[in-house]
Amino acid sequence: MTAGARPVVVLVGPPGAGKSTVAALLGEALGLEVRDTDSDVEAATGTAIADLFVTYGEDRFRALEAEAVATALAEHRGVLALGGGAVMRPATQEALRGHTVVFLDVGLAEAASRVGLSSSRPLLLGNVRSQMKGLLDSRRPTYEAVATHVVSTDGRTPSEVAEAVLILL
Ligand code: S3P
Repeated sequence: MTAGARPVVVLVGPPGAGKSTVAALLGEALGLEVRDTDSDVEAATGTAIADLFVTYGEDRFRALEAEAVATALAEHRGVLALGGGAVMRPATQEALRGHTVVFLDVGLAEAASRVGLSSSRPLLLGNVRSQMKGLLDSRRPTYEAVATHVVSTDGRTPSEVAEAVLILL
């Protein structure tokens, strides 16, 4: 670990905000390594996130995620994307202080469509979309609180979002 190392930018936001795609574009543009806490947890456990939830439950996943976030914030010098729920942990909110944190904001329609919840199948997917709305609404104040910058992703391509983030750095 390099003394004083820290991410150049940390991306936060809900599933469907485009964090991983935008992180990859930023890494390319800046010539920096990209890290993603979901991938870190999967690498550390050898288990896919979806399976971790089923096998060990969400609490265990959140504990592993918090560890992955703390480690990445301490040692990664590059672009860091956090899993969508990571910021809900108070210790993570505290750990983000002093970092450049960009909230990739997204409305329900685009977030739902990006994660494959087509609005043309309301009977099949309506409940999941409602859950997603609840999640976006309940987390929004926290994303806003931890962010040093907010970038809207609605109606923008990942490249346009990455450009908007680069201007801030
Ligand atoms: C989660 C978001 C996921 C992943 C896990 C839980 C959440 O990451 O960490 O499935 O609670 O919002 P992405 O935001 O990268 O999809």
